[in-house]
Amino acid sequence: MTIRNFVRLSSISLLIIMVAVLTSCGNKTGKKEINTTKSKMKISNKTFGKAGDKEIKLFELENENGMKISIINYGAIITSVIVPDRDGKFEDVVLGFDSLQGYLDGHPYFGSLVGRYGNRIAKGKFELDGEVYQLAINNGENHLHGGLKGFDKRIWTAEAFEDKNSVGVKMQYTSMDMEEGYPGTLKVLVTYFLTNENELKIDYKAVTDKACPVNLTQHSYFNFTAGKENILNHQLKIKASKYVEVDQELIPTGKLPEVKATALDFLDFHSVAERISQVPGGYDHSYVFDKEYGKYESVVEVYEPESGRFMEMFTTEPAVQLYTGNFLDGSLTGKNGINYNKHYGFCLEAQHYPDSPNQPAFPSTILRPGEEYTQTTLYKFSTK
Ligand code: BGC
Repeated sequence: MTIRNFVRLSSISLLIIMVAVLTSCGNKTGKKEINTTKSKMKISNKTFGKAGDKEIKLFELENENGMKISIINYGAIITSVIVPDRDGKFEDVVLGFDSLQGYLDGHPYFGSLVGRYGNRIAKGKFELDGEVYQLAINNGENHLHGGLKGFDKRIWTAEAFEDKNSVGVKMQYTSMDMEEGYPGTLKVLVTYFLTNENELKIDYKAVTDKACPVNLTQHSYFNFTAGKENILNHQLKIKASKYVEVDQELIPTGKLPEVKATALDFLDFHSVAERISQVPGGYDHSYVFDKEYGKYESVVEVYEPESGRFMEMFTTEPAVQLYTGNFLDGSLTGKNGINYNKHYGFCLEAQHYPDSPNQPAFPSTILRPGEEYTQTTLYKFSTK
């Protein structure tokens, strides 16, 4: 044996002895043993109720760490996201209802897949290739989140799948030509993945047979206290130096001011509570990411100090609508009998800027025949 090999072997033995000693100390001092045995990924579905004469399915996904997500094929709605806190206690961190009826009775897009156009289009009107289109009006004088019967109220075809590192559901919906006033038949495929890295990943694809605006998004309302409190103590970091300035009706003025020296600046961590009183109505703003257009990157971090829950968001989209549940008023009772009062949830809706079809200087949201709309957005959960 060479001297070098002898030294190497001795260091390995020393390391083994140290690990053994440390482990036994840990046991003696009552430290928690970390259970490294992983359970299997699971996927199941059951009937959630009926919308008219159509059966609605609830898909339950579970990864190897026990994180669970439920999704229904009505509105492609995420009905629950169950993640551990820093002590390993699993709780549901999204708003929603126990039964399908809650979703059918009307709600502000809890967990919904929003389309064709997430966010507002001024007066529901836009011009495209010389034609003026009038969309359904459902928010004051404007069009919001796809209209009176957007993708959030449609029945999707759904198929569960399992691959090496994730379980998921593929959801498909075909939106007919002139549905809610939009031109073209639009075929949409949304794939939800739950990975073994505690990630909820959403892949979007769409194709059309006529040019039309497309701006899809996911409208989950998160609350990392699992509804014990409102979301004001959550801390946020958003990698966006600019935001989309809006008027009283939340319609863009066309300007993209700097967040610097305003209550909208989340370039470093701030709690929602810290400056929300300086923001009339609360946060409901489109943040323009600093990253290169179209690049998939980490853009938002959220931390809730009591539970230790932490979430990082990645997306290919150029902006995110931060909405702090300003219009929740306690009139809706959700899961576990919790009244959803003002600021009981926050949304991080990855998307393009509002009213892009009427703002030529904004990145285009027009999809043309022969092109494919794609988006990937991912929410990764952990604790700190
Ligand atoms: C919008 C809010 C709206 C909410 C519920 C959010 O995406 O930004 O203005 O009230 O959705 O409809």
